[in-house]
Amino acid sequence: MASRSIGDNVFKGMSLCLTEYSKRNTMDVIPSLLLSVALCSTLTVCLPQPRGEGPSASGLPSDFLWGVATAAYQIEGAWKEDGKGPSIWDEYSHQPGNIDDGSNGDVACDSYHKWQEDMEILKLMRVKHYRFSLSWPRLLPDGTKGSLNTKAVAYYMNIIKALKDNGIIPLITLYHWDLPKTLQDKYGGWLNESIIPLFKDYAEVCFKTFGDQVKHWLTFNEPWCVSVLGYEVGQMAPGIKLAGTGAYRAAHTILKAHAEVYHMYHEKYNTDKSEYIKRNTMDVIPSLLLSVALCSTLTVCLPQPRGEGPSASGLPSDFLWGVATAAYQIEGAWKEDGKGPSIWDEYSHKPGNIDDGSNGDVACDSYHKWQEDMEILKLMRVKHYRFSLSWPRLLPDGTKGSLNTKAVAYYMNIIKALKDNGIIPLITLYHWDLPKTLQDKYGGWLNESIIPLFKDYAEVCFKTFGDQVKHWLTFNEPWCVSVLGYEVGQMAPGIKLAGTGAYRAAHTILKAHAEVYHMYHEKYNTDKSGKISITLNSDWSEPKTKTAEDAEAAERSQQFSLGWFAHPVYANGDYPDVMKWTVGNRSKAENLNQSRLPEFTDDEKARIKGTFDFFGLNTYSTNLITGAKTTGAGYFQDIGVASSKDPKWKTSGSSWLTVVPWGMRRILNWIKQQYSNPPVIITENGISDRNTTIPGIYRDYWRIGYYRGYISNMIDAVVKDKCNVIGYTAWSVMDNFEWSRGYSEKFGMYHVNFSDPQRPRTPKESSVYYSMIIKANGIPKYTPRSFHVVDEN
Ligand code: BGC
Repeated sequence: MASRSIGDNVFKGMSLCLTEYSKRNTMDVIPSLLLSVALCSTLTVCLPQPRGEGPSASGLPSDFLWGVATAAYQIEGAWKEDGKGPSIWDEYSHQPGNIDDGSNGDVACDSYHKWQEDMEILKLMRVKHYRFSLSWPRLLPDGTKGSLNTKAVAYYMNIIKALKDNGIIPLITLYHWDLPKTLQDKYGGWLNESIIPLFKDYAEVCFKTFGDQVKHWLTFNEPWCVSVLGYEVGQMAPGIKLAGTGAYRAAHTILKAHAEVYHMYHEKYNTDKSEYIKRNTMDVIPSLLLSVALCSTLTVCLPQPRGEGPSASGLPSDFLWGVATAAYQIEGAWKEDGKGPSIWDEYSHKPGNIDDGSNGDVACDSYHKWQEDMEILKLMRVKHYRFSLSWPRLLPDGTKGSLNTKAVAYYMNIIKALKDNGIIPLITLYHWDLPKTLQDKYGGWLNESIIPLFKDYAEVCFKTFGDQVKHWLTFNEPWCVSVLGYEVGQMAPGIKLAGTGAYRAAHTILKAHAEVYHMYHEKYNTDKSGKISITLNSDWSEPKTKTAEDAEAAERSQQFSLGWFAHPVYANGDYPDVMKWTVGNRSKAENLNQSRLPEFTDDEKARIKGTFDFFGLNTYSTNLITGAKTTGAGYFQDIGVASSKDPKWKTSGSSWLTVVPWGMRRILNWIKQQYSNPPVIITENGISDRNTTIPGIYRDYWRIGYYRGYISNMIDAVVKDKCNVIGYTAWSVMDNFEWSRGYSEKFGMYHVNFSDPQRPRTPKESSVYYSMIIKANGIPKYTPRSFHVVDEN
């Protein structure tokens, strides 16, 4: 964290802001800123259902056990730590020439120290059981029960407890080849039947110590290998070569030892174990008695794995973790099944508009591959999925009379599958793909006549999907729609109306939002379980220097970007004062008889104020802001600031996106302070890259670092600063059509191969890491080493 806290900012009633103008290279064109349905309720019945992939699909029983296995000597290491005795494998591997590469198991995977990390892997893989072995010489260093090593007991007990806590069945092998060396030296190992009672003693210690927790046991692992490779051909420890007899003799002993242990287990230990530890541990294991077994609940006395449950991070256990997409960016099928054209179809088809000459005609082909996408969401264990409905797919000509039932079926299937899998749908009504007809006929958001049409569209959605969907967003990033679409023309519909375009579009959008908000609550949210809001985008505006001027400039910038939309909705129904004054004064100086910033009537203010159930925030980056003299009519000129980046900040695949995790904490605090701490759902946050080569595509450490840094700061904002953040949504689940950047900038946690007609999806490492975050309800304490990237804090 940077040393300065949010509270140090000099807000003085003026507010910070601009941030967004540098996004998507707006700076290129603004030199002065270079510086700086009540449709059938049975619809689902008639629709094609997702192919079943549940337990019954393969024919295997639903309780079929899927697991992974290890063995002590192969993974533990710590070969002479904490009192462990030597095994025949320690000896054998230390003898030169025995191991191909001259190595040994002295350290191996170091699982003796890293078992918690291994546990995370098991959890991530969702195994139903974990087969592992106990090391006889770790538990009984000289091979006999008198030598019990309590540290070894604690080690295995912790593993067993963690497995059980996570619903993973322990399947324990008693003997996976690492005989205590003493028993080889003294008796000749498995060649001598005298070791049968010693093996029985060892097994008894294990049953007594772990038997109330462990219900699945194996006596020996692969006696064939032990006998033939160990005692006949000598290619494994103990390296004895007794051709013709060695293997048979060892096998004979092993079979008898197995039988003894089998009977003992069933006769003495496979009864009700609840009484067992208290009753027996004391008589047989005196050394354990003092250190461990005195407690009635053994595990309480042992070092516990550090918690990673809901409470570890301090986030509430019902915190919403999700991922987001948008229709035009993923669906494709741009003119299939009756879909009408959108302004983005038109814009992207015009040569020169999209960097790489691409378009969203096919995109990720999610229109056809949604079932595959559903599997990804399930795998990632997201709690919610934010996606948008395509207005021109549902209403091809933009009006309710044109309802397309195939589009209804498509979205209905997605919603049903989400709900069947316990994933909350969070639907955006408008993520930029206006029906082209409404742009052509009315001029799009420049014309308030489209408000009733948007309301009609929203009503179709509420009627059709409203009984299933309880989380709605009216608009995604009205800032981008207004500024990039109608002011600088860098996004569809590509209109350049400097000085007025953005303000007019924003004005229409805010009114349309308010109408839909009220309609939803008055007519459709009858059981009051639904929530609806708007999603606003803003990066953090940090004063470039500590001067009061820069603090004021940064605050102004923040108000012109986030405050522009948030102030009407979350404060008083009207634009921030600094916007009204600034644009008003500049308009006057331009000899205009009214401000370029439209005014709301008192009725409109009352209608807009408070139209939220939560605060939807998309945030990605931070800018350094300083005051600048600007001339001419234009939204950016009105702000009067110059924006820059600290050269030390890490960059990304997008010119506007630098990695500044502390910006997340500051913007959340700003929202808390400005709008009385509303519940916030971060509806987008993520990072792009331009990687095209392997392994860079998949090994996206920078993305892992970004998420870790930003999410840590979000958690600090919640836990330390008491910001009311209730959810977080990563952008994006998969690479997709990044608007004017085409497919050159990739934000996905899944790679999509856009050159392959099948559009295969492949997980990147960040997807695994994000799943771990979801599982841990915060930053996981133990992460596979490959995820240990440079800390972005
Ligand atoms: C938009 C997304 C976009 C992302 C990355 C947000 O502005 O809502 O559609 O892909 O940022 O630029």
